[in-house]
Amino acid sequence: MDPSEFSLPSESITAFTGPEHAHHDIYPSISASHTPSLRQPGKVVLITGAGRGCGRAMALQYAHAGVAGIILVSRTLPQLEEVESQIRSISPETKVSKHVVDVTNAQSVFDCAKAVEQDFGGRLDVLVNNAGTIYALAPLRDTKPEEWWHTYEVNIKGPYLFLKAFLPLLSGTAEKFKTLTHVVNISSIGALSINPGGTAYFTSKLALLRLTELVELEEGAKGVVSVAVHPGGVATELTLPFENLKQFMTDTPELSGGFVVWITAGEKKWLGGRYLSATWDADRLEERKQEIVEGDKLKVKLAV
Ligand SMILES: NC(=O)c1ccc[n+]([C@@H]2O[C@H](COP(=O)([O-])OP(=O)(O)OC[C@H]3O[C@@H](n4cnc5c(N)ncnc54)[C@H](OP(=O)(O)O)[C@@H]3O)[C@@H](O)[C@H]2O)c1
Repeated sequence: MDPSEFSLPSESITAFTGPEHAHHDIYPSISASHTPSLRQPGKVVLITGAGRGCGRAMALQYAHAGVAGIILVSRTLPQLEEVESQIRSISPETKVSKHVVDVTNAQSVFDCAKAVEQDFGGRLDVLVNNAGTIYALAPLRDTKPEEWWHTYEVNIKGPYLFLKAFLPLLSGTAEKFKTLTHVVNISSIGALSINPGGTAYFTSKLALLRLTELVELEEGAKGVVSVAVHPGGVATELTLPFENLKQFMTDTPELSGGFVVWITAGEKKWLGGRYLSATWDADRLEERKQEIVEGDKLKVKLAV
């Protein structure tokens, strides 16, 4: 595919903030190192795909937020060990547990939930469904069926399994501590873009938006807030092979790390069920809260 033929919806990168306020790196309003109100002591956070890329940055930003526990999940133990030692140097008092789990394997996910329940006394405040995969952005007729479907296994079945396994802990924690708990599903701007080659990855991330909205509908009254997030364009193992995406890889992993910490700090129930981009300015987003809520904005709809 010719890179010049590939485009992303610019309003999804700059909406509500304007291009002049789009962020590419972490900034004080979303950085717990700079903004004490973002600190979340006592909370327990689980991140899938925490070994590298955006998931690793999220784990480290939660360490800066001084959380009580971070549960790291991926298939590669050495990467989880590296993240654990980085967390320890930032926040020695944070308890870390590592779980080598393939997010597509139901039994492994349910075993992980049992272990987490025991290790953290039944407490879970934040579930970040970040693990994701992508294969060649080939036209449908050139795709390999096993790769096409594996994209759905990781990007949709994975979040489904973690939601099924961990929603009882999230709602139980909300009830016990009279607080909000959070599901953050890492989607993609690809969910909103129409480009050849996107039939697997883009549609799986679009499905994740609606999954987020439906989980918000089912669990919101139980204190569980569900949000979908585009982490920005980040040069990672996932994106590096794509020549035609290089032009969009303008953001640091710390941007998404800080943005997720911002989402789960304080009482932001109004974000529930919505799509957010980490590139949007958090303060300007708050300023437009009334417009977003009254207009039921930042959701996928049919324009008629
Ligand atoms: N980078 C971007 O520009 C961008 C843009 C939009 C959306 N995203 C989304 O952001 C998320 C993170 O991506 P990234 O760019 O940070 O990629 P990455 O650096 O490749 O990290 C992906 C993480 O997911 C884990 N993972 C993949 N398959 C897994 C499986 N079956 N079971 C358990 N863990 C699995 C990987 O660990 P193991 O391989 O060790 O299991 C790794 O820790 C993904 O959902 C991606 O779709 C990224």
